[in-house]
Amino acid sequence: MTGTEFFLIERKHDISDPRSAVKLPERQTFIRKALILPVVMIIFLALTFASGCSEKKPQETYKYVPKRYVSVGFSQLGAESDWRVANTESVKRALSRNNGFNLNFSDAQQKQDKQIVAIRGFIQQRVDMIVMAPLMETGWEGVLNEARDAGIPVVVMDRMVKTGDDSLFTAWVGSDFYREGALACAWLNKYISLNEVSQNSVRIVDIQGTLGATSQIGRTDSLRDSCEHYGWKLLVSVPADYTRAKGKEVMESILHLYRDVNVVYCENDNEALGVIDAIEEAGKKAGTDISNGEILIISFDAAHSGLEKMLEGKIALDVECNPLQGEAVREVIEKIRAGLPYQKYMSVPETVFAVDDSVPSVYLGGERVEIVPLTREILDGREY
Ligand code: AHR
Repeated sequence: MTGTEFFLIERKHDISDPRSAVKLPERQTFIRKALILPVVMIIFLALTFASGCSEKKPQETYKYVPKRYVSVGFSQLGAESDWRVANTESVKRALSRNNGFNLNFSDAQQKQDKQIVAIRGFIQQRVDMIVMAPLMETGWEGVLNEARDAGIPVVVMDRMVKTGDDSLFTAWVGSDFYREGALACAWLNKYISLNEVSQNSVRIVDIQGTLGATSQIGRTDSLRDSCEHYGWKLLVSVPADYTRAKGKEVMESILHLYRDVNVVYCENDNEALGVIDAIEEAGKKAGTDISNGEILIISFDAAHSGLEKMLEGKIALDVECNPLQGEAVREVIEKIRAGLPYQKYMSVPETVFAVDDSVPSVYLGGERVEIVPLTREILDGREY
């Protein structure tokens, strides 16, 4: 309240109010007393408010604090197959911003030097973690040592790296490729026996994956071991880089050179699609009746495109190679960062699909593995 206002109030009581019976000095005292209380109250309230504000200073807790994302450099080897595309998507989904990750993705287009450059880039950026799907097994020591010197853990995914020192990577998530091949061969052995085809009439060709990749090595090795074991004739092994175009190209040459081929072991679905193209263009038929000139096709991945061909009767057996590895990678990253115990080597679950139900199961090292006859319903329910 200002001095002027005080004066006006005084005059109002003194002059304008006829009911005022209080004499001037008394009236002044009365007015002063009447004013002291509200003034004191106002000062008190102001102080209380001010101190209240300062007590609320912890409001700073609500200040904008940027969220801490886990930065991950993901070096994918390429996009050569349907499997690879599904694998990339699975990792991107699992290591999303919503899940607390800042993912830096790099596609090496099937070139190891590009992969090494990408991983070096992640090291320079000082990412928290590196995930790599290596093109081939060898040639990684240098860059893995650099990652270790920088204190960045590396999770290897899908294929394996071969180094003299397994401590160069922190964990691995992927498939047992030798087992996949062994399952395929165990099925073929039973299938031809059931169809009364002699083992030594099997004339097989191997359309290999990218040479030096763990998936190629495992699948090729188990076929070679089985050929020896069952007495099958392995006509030739030719790499086709896991692509449809190459699969078709190499199968065209094979059909010219080996006219009596009756089984084609394709190391992935995309190659199998190319092989089917070549067989059909050559006027032959992909099917299971090898006694009557059909060519039986075995494949790996169980991607949607491969299983569609199985429903058409053109692929007889498709051993799943599960590309949905993103969640397992995420779990292991979270455990590593939290300092919790984790499994260093982790395989993903896989199913074996067949064109019919004649072989319900196979045995592998004492383990019974179910063979699932494919139906449209099963295929439509699958994620990739
Ligand atoms: O390493 C896994 C293999 O790589 C898959 O079978 C194939 O499709 C891929 O490109």
